[in-house]
Amino acid sequence: MSSSAAITRVSLPNHVRGGFVKLADFKIEQVAPPSKDQLADNQVILRPIYYSIDPYQRGRIAGVKGSFIESYSEGNAITNILVATVVASASADYQEGDVVIDNDGKWETEYVTEACAISKAPTQYSAEPKDHVGVLGMAAFSAYVGATVLAKPKAGETILVSSASGGVGQMVVQLAKARGLRVIGVAGSDDKVEYVKSIGADVAFNYKTCGNYLEAIKVAAPEGIDIWFDNVGGEFLDAALAHINTHARIIICGAITQYNLSSPDERYGIKCLTSVLIKKASIHGFIIDEYYDTPTHVAFYEEVSQLYRAGKITYRLSETDGLESAPQAFLDLFTGKNFGRSIVKV
Ligand SMILES: NC(=O)c1ccc[n+]([C@@H]2O[C@H](COP(=O)([O-])OP(=O)(O)OC[C@H]3O[C@@H](n4cnc5c(N)ncnc54)[C@H](OP(=O)(O)O)[C@@H]3O)[C@@H](O)[C@H]2O)c1
Repeated sequence: MSSSAAITRVSLPNHVRGGFVKLADFKIEQVAPPSKDQLADNQVILRPIYYSIDPYQRGRIAGVKGSFIESYSEGNAITNILVATVVASASADYQEGDVVIDNDGKWETEYVTEACAISKAPTQYSAEPKDHVGVLGMAAFSAYVGATVLAKPKAGETILVSSASGGVGQMVVQLAKARGLRVIGVAGSDDKVEYVKSIGADVAFNYKTCGNYLEAIKVAAPEGIDIWFDNVGGEFLDAALAHINTHARIIICGAITQYNLSSPDERYGIKCLTSVLIKKASIHGFIIDEYYDTPTHVAFYEEVSQLYRAGKITYRLSETDGLESAPQAFLDLFTGKNFGRSIVKV
């Protein structure tokens, strides 16, 4: 049954076009809960259990048209991936108590949605709701697609991965290691560097203290880089291009250094692109939603759930409590305060 107590709602009053988003840009309020009586056919009431907090949401906050996903609309609740329990259902496909995934669920502690917008959590791979935003969630799946499908890794090759302790990066490190690669991880603090080594990186270093990027990458990868899995873009992406080997694969997963620019004029201009020509390399950008509900998604679930159950991989979460903590958790992604995959528990 849905409750009658007020629920929490986090919305975006106004788009924030450029620069860093601030806490005051979000509105947190208590509002009346949805009522079971208002459910139309094929609607359900969901109560989120875990919210996913993701860097890509910065783009949706900007309110710019033409991206791969719609902007948030001003005044409405923020939306993103979440795992929830069905608390009331007017759909034959869902019953009270079902655990579901909503890839565009509301930052409200209870809300109404259409049954066709959700899917049952694949509990055959894990009965733990947290895993569906964690080790089996979107960031981990992105690592799988980029590092194992697009990068076509071969044992003995060298992979470099940026933001290596994060939701995507820590899975790249472990999947690459499991495929016999030499793994170099880059992260923004010494404790993150230690973590990256502890999960299998052969070499890891702190990009904030390493000095000259070109030199630091040369020392870490004297044999050159065969796969460059990039989450950050900008100057570090550029420096790594100078060290790629013949037929290198460059996987553009993210570009977090470029998400909070005040204006497009501040975009970092890549200088080492001729390396791609000289080394006959390929650059592959991707957005993970194209791979949902495909055989690749099933292969990911099977491999990663087995490795996880067998204790062969680990997955660090950066977990905060209560939907009220979601805006700060989001801001923390851009200062590196999260350590591991960022999620909010309700
Ligand atoms: N293509 C896709 O479909 C897809 C899917 C998921 C995620 N992504 C992208 O993948 C990247 C990682 O996502 P995630 O969810 O796993 O996030 P994450 O790595 O868990 O968290 C973000 C991390 O980025 C690093 N960072 C923040 N600002 C930075 C800066 N100015 N320079 C360098 N590093 C910075 C910080 O780590 P440090 O402390 O190490 O600096 C921070 O902890 C993001 O760019 C995201 O947009 C893409």
